Amino acid sequence: MEAGDEVPAIWKDDVREVLLGSADISARVRQLGKEISAAYGGLNPVMLPVLKGSYIFAADLSRSLEIPHEIQFLRARSYVGTESSGDVSISGLEGVDLRERHVIVVEDIVDTGLTLKCILKKIRALGAIDVRSCTLLQKDTNRRRSDVPPVDYIAFHVQDEFVVGYGLDYNQRFRHLPFIGILKPHA
Ligand code: XMP
Ligand code: MG
Repeated sequence: MEAGDEVPAIWKDDVREVLLGSADISARVRQLGKEISAAYGGLNPVMLPVLKGSYIFAADLSRSLEIPHEIQFLRARSYVGTESSGDVSISGLEGVDLRERHVIVVEDIVDTGLTLKCILKKIRALGAIDVRSCTLLQKDTNRRRSDVPPVDYIAFHVQDEFVVGYGLDYNQRFRHLPFIGILKPHA
């Protein structure tokens, strides 16, 4: 499946168009895997996918890495009502030792960048030597905050639309779509 292909009938009511097809995604993920493998040879990095959105991306990226690496998962939750402070609570790393490790945080999508910024800060505070970021999608948006560091590895840039599939959800739906599509309004 490729970008612009017809949306499969079962999702036609909900998804407006195919933005990234499964073949485009897997080719790019393989390429990113080679790039990260070249950069991290001998370092045994810890991949740290942020649940749930990055579960499919992380599984494919991990299998495309040609170097030894470990994988741990975290969950990030924004504190409701304090969005301006951007405080994010992280769970899932209890008992995980990241001291002296090279860490790659794996996100599904970076929009304003606030979530990723908070995660990176917290991971650095856990004693990792080096913390870099990788995202499946980066939204081209003017909402990006100026205090957010650039993402180190970006699979795709996407337009400022709500996208679903390949791990990304709308109210927990659509994560299992094998492609990334633009959601119809109020699907
Ligand atoms: P920030 O603004 O902190 O937001 O970079 C990142 C989080 O917002 C969610 N998000 C989306 N989720 N389709 C989704 O399924 C989208 O188009 C989208 N845009 C933002 C997502 O949870 C991400 O971690
Ligand atoms: Mg979500």
